[in-house]
Amino acid sequence: MTKVIVKDKAFVPFLPEAAVQKEVARVARELTRDLGDKSPLFLPVLNGAFMFTADLLRHFEGACEVCFIKLASYAGTQSTGAVREVIGLAADITGRHVVIVEDIVDSGLTMAHTIATLRKHNPASISVCTLMLKPAALHVEVPIDYCCMEIPNDFIVGYGLDYDGFGRNLREIYVLAPQEA
Ligand code: IMP
Ligand code: MG
Repeated sequence: MTKVIVKDKAFVPFLPEAAVQKEVARVARELTRDLGDKSPLFLPVLNGAFMFTADLLRHFEGACEVCFIKLASYAGTQSTGAVREVIGLAADITGRHVVIVEDIVDSGLTMAHTIATLRKHNPASISVCTLMLKPAALHVEVPIDYCCMEIPNDFIVGYGLDYDGFGRNLREIYVLAPQEA
């Protein structure tokens, strides 16, 4: 892994692929332990969670359903705080054990809004599963049930995460180079 340019900024290696995969497999085991016999409905948030979800669910053992939803609050490298509505909730979540799957929880506003919206549909339970959590960036209290990694308050790309739409296809996770931050 070496320095990469994503759009117009330089990023340096942060987490190798194997380290990410190890934590994804661990979280999948936790989900299997807690929900393996409950036919959960996974609700991954597009676009960021697509790669994480594909790996996570390959390790989940038990019956489950998946319905991708969309809800964005981010432009560039700063959270806008503005949250859009949930799109694509095709499945009936009433009485279901739902698991929101996110790429990263930053301020927590996106997740808090998503939870509040889903709660109106009366699911049996709502769990939150995130690849990354930036504890120092949290503005609101969000229950995080499953988390692969806690990271510093830096901007990262790769493994589904983007900088202005680019960098999602990187297999490793990169962080904004110090001189760019
Ligand atoms: P929040 O509402 O501030 O928690 O922002 C959550 C969303 O912002 C995530 O789902 C990501 O799409 C995006 N985001 C937050 N931090 C990063 C980052 O470091 N890299 C890429 N996207 C990020
Ligand atoms: Mg996202």
